[in-house]
Amino acid sequence: MSYKQLSLTLALTTLLLLMASCSHTTQPMHIQHTSDTTALVQIHTPQRYLLLPIQESQPEVLVRLIGNRPEDTELDIRLAVDSIDYFVPLALPMDRESEVEIIGLGAKAIAWDSIRLSDTFTPAPADYYRPALHHAPPYGWMNDPNGLVYLDGRYHLYYQYNPYGAKWGNMYWGHASSEDLLHWQTHEPALARDTLGHIFSGSTIIDREGQAGFGKGALLAFYTAHKMRQGKQWQAQCLAYSTDQGMSFTKYTGNPILSPHDGISDFRDPKVFWYAPNKSWYMIVSADREMRFYRSTDLRQWDYVSAFGDGYGARPCQFECPDFFELPMEGTGVHKWVMLVNINPGGAFGGSATEYFVGNFDGKTFTPDTAPEVARWLDFGKDHYAFVTFHGTPGRVLGIPWASNWQYANVTPYKQSRGVNGLPRELFLFEAGGRSYVGARPATEVTKLRKDSITLPETRLSERVRHEDLLAPYSDSFELELELNPEAGVTQAGIILTNKQGDRLPIFLDLSKGRVVMDRTQSGLIAFGEQATPHERESADWRKGDGLNYQNDFALSTWAPLGLCARKTYRLRLFVDRSLAELFVEGGRIAMSNLIFPRTPYTSLEFFSEGGSTQIRGLHLYRLGL
Ligand code: FRU
Repeated sequence: MSYKQLSLTLALTTLLLLMASCSHTTQPMHIQHTSDTTALVQIHTPQRYLLLPIQESQPEVLVRLIGNRPEDTELDIRLAVDSIDYFVPLALPMDRESEVEIIGLGAKAIAWDSIRLSDTFTPAPADYYRPALHHAPPYGWMNDPNGLVYLDGRYHLYYQYNPYGAKWGNMYWGHASSEDLLHWQTHEPALARDTLGHIFSGSTIIDREGQAGFGKGALLAFYTAHKMRQGKQWQAQCLAYSTDQGMSFTKYTGNPILSPHDGISDFRDPKVFWYAPNKSWYMIVSADREMRFYRSTDLRQWDYVSAFGDGYGARPCQFECPDFFELPMEGTGVHKWVMLVNINPGGAFGGSATEYFVGNFDGKTFTPDTAPEVARWLDFGKDHYAFVTFHGTPGRVLGIPWASNWQYANVTPYKQSRGVNGLPRELFLFEAGGRSYVGARPATEVTKLRKDSITLPETRLSERVRHEDLLAPYSDSFELELELNPEAGVTQAGIILTNKQGDRLPIFLDLSKGRVVMDRTQSGLIAFGEQATPHERESADWRKGDGLNYQNDFALSTWAPLGLCARKTYRLRLFVDRSLAELFVEGGRIAMSNLIFPRTPYTSLEFFSEGGSTQIRGLHLYRLGL
């Protein structure tokens, strides 16, 4: 052996020894650290999942399932560095060996010793705050409801979903379905993040005539592909179709189908609807601070029609998640068009909220009935966003809100499953003081949740009365129904839910100000996240909200004007499901949804009336269950 050959052999041996010394050999899987922050996980004996340990406070690292054509998915995952919050499953191909590349995780991270293969995955038992009766994903992160559709007796609910951690990221369309809007069955995600980017919000329609060329009755999903390209946000609309009743989708090979003509970077959340007068499909898309209408005959090629919104409603705002439908006016039956505009920020109580405009549409232009400065809210709580409606429910405009707010959505004290939807609601149009408003009442199905109940006698209340432990048997999930009839002179009257820790949730009429109020300033946990400087808050990515302190944004009272009610007696329906309180006044003329995190469930109920007496009638307390 020549000197040259010898030194080459020595160098190779040293290299092999070095590689071996920094690799953990756990058969049937082998982890090879190729640099300080790069590693290759080689899976020799395929199993269904690679279980990845997550630590939410850590930054995302890149995880890539190599050769997983056609998508070669790149995922951003917060792998554990020094402690483990929970595991998430990464599905592996079962028919071959595979390799997972991990970039950005130091060789000392505890993830390396805890990554493992498994044929099963069971999420950890749900934490207390995960509502029992509302739809929430079994694990992972959820935001907007997407593609709501009623098809062959089933309601399909797709949603913005991160299967790889309970913070925003890796957008998929998660999927659940239900026959009654109450019992939700979880399915495999319907659309996965791909090379065009994240799968952002959108809608579905049933293409009964097969106009798009994917067969009669195909379900078409319209969504936004979102990607960062050279530091700039790129968004365009895409199409996917399903020929198996919405259980799986195939992405259209001609994607994207619609890009903005002026190159704007915020262009998303397509909602497709049928406009009968000119027998055409329309798409409404949020485009920065306006909504744009497009029209199509084949559902693939879309032509620009008009735009609405610039200078209208609350500000500052980013328009998102549009919806557009007709509603008959209660009493007269006259139809009006309603545009839902989910905005962020600019909500009545800060952050994100659902705004709407009532007006007319002639197939070309939407003309609102209100002046530009008027802002109307579909819900007066702080946790109601991305509300959109179902396709395929004639005679009924039915939708679902995501119950959170982008100001703190990523740091709420949930664990493995973060994100919950509000109760399904039916919209209606009513008049108050000569103006048109949209109301939202719980869908009729919701009464089926009522199990045992107790009825309290009618009382005339002039002081504080406390029913100790009244809620105790009901306190996880209950509905309280009552009518408050305040006499002249009453300044405030209402109820307070309390627990032994001193947490309190007052819900009351503030007649001196003409408001109904829900005050969560002392409702339980009210401060999440880490301290951050104002500059850090300004520059943070609002979708990820990493490590920010939202204390001052969460602890507040929300209120609605009582002028929306027709009479001077107020019927209240309050739903409490662990971490979500939803109030409906006068059959939904006012809706108010707020997250709450009581340290222990509320057990007692207090009534109060100040400045005079209040008649309390029709008081029912229902235990709710599925
Ligand atoms: C609204 C939103 C949408 C977007 C999605 C991304 O909550 O920002 O505009 O499509 O969330 O997850």
